[in-house]
Amino acid sequence: MYRKLAGAIAVLATAATSVLAHSWVDCVKYDPINEVCLGYPRGYPGRQNVNINTLYTYIFNASPVSQPMCSPVQQASTNYSSTFPMATAQPGETIYTTWEQNGHLDNANPTKVFVYYFPQSSQQFTDVSQRNTAKVAGSMNFATNDNCYVPGYPNTVCLGSWVVPADLVPGQVYHFVWFWYFNANPAGQWYSTCFDVQVNSASHVVQTAALPDLMAKGNPNINYVWGVTDQVNALIANTTMLANPNQGVLPVTTPYTSQPPPSSTFVPVPPALPAPAVPSTSSSTTAPPSAATSTSPLKCIPRPSPL
Ligand SMILES: *[C@@H]1O[C@H](CO)[C@@H](O)[C@H](O)[C@H]1NC(C)=O
Ligand SMILES: *[C@@H]1O[C@H](CO)[C@@H](O)[C@H](O)[C@H]1NC(C)=O
Repeated sequence: MYRKLAGAIAVLATAATSVLAHSWVDCVKYDPINEVCLGYPRGYPGRQNVNINTLYTYIFNASPVSQPMCSPVQQASTNYSSTFPMATAQPGETIYTTWEQNGHLDNANPTKVFVYYFPQSSQQFTDVSQRNTAKVAGSMNFATNDNCYVPGYPNTVCLGSWVVPADLVPGQVYHFVWFWYFNANPAGQWYSTCFDVQVNSASHVVQTAALPDLMAKGNPNINYVWGVTDQVNALIANTTMLANPNQGVLPVTTPYTSQPPPSSTFVPVPPALPAPAVPSTSSSTTAPPSAATSTSPLKCIPRPSPL
């Protein structure tokens, strides 16, 4: 009995001191109106894979000068399937990308996500240092009341919008990285998800609107990260050309109402790893482009146990 209790306390202590996070892009191109995913990141295993946390979490610890930009399962830019296809989009198209907040909601000092890309389709991301030379297709908050469906729910879906650069050339595949500056300390933790976009002159464009209106439908059903269906493929196939000035804008209709989390069980996080050591000499030449004012490690709220 005592031993059991001591073990539980040790586990709790580990969880309390851990600052590790677990998040990645689940859907590169989300359609908030139809509540479906039209394109996934590289080597995406799907949320039905119970090992997705260990397979797909990719961390940069202690601000490395050099480390592969993409996780081992995201090295191949062609690692897509008919179930988890690459996104197709037009130059100038607004894209909604989703992830889970995993307990990292922060309204006061939200952590930042950047979408980096190279303007030449031939250029691949190989090393994390390339974020200093890559271009930025978008920057967004990671998790706030404004971009997460059910802010009080640790596993709610959050989303951000960015725009496919207008000068990308149709007919080519371009390479992108979603880069999350979870911890902006010199000992920082960052996370990446690599993805690619087939740029075409026509594509299925999703309706745009202010986020509260797009999010009025509530947290997406977990099915959206289980792969595309025939119905989604039909949607993707029904392409259109972006009219000037841009894709259709949804009129403001429904007020935002918070909805209960989906009934499906979520994949639990793996055991916490030790927190990174803060380097004694901080020669911080690789300071992230924002949120650099934070000086104390962010706290990771543990996920609830699976049902
Ligand atoms: C492709 O993705 C799958 C699923 O995540 C992964 O198991 C596999 O290692 C990946 N292959 C390559 C070559 O990256
Ligand atoms: C294709 O898109 C057009 C324009 O949005 C729409 O009117 C039509 O119903 C769509 N067709 C299918 C099969 O989804």
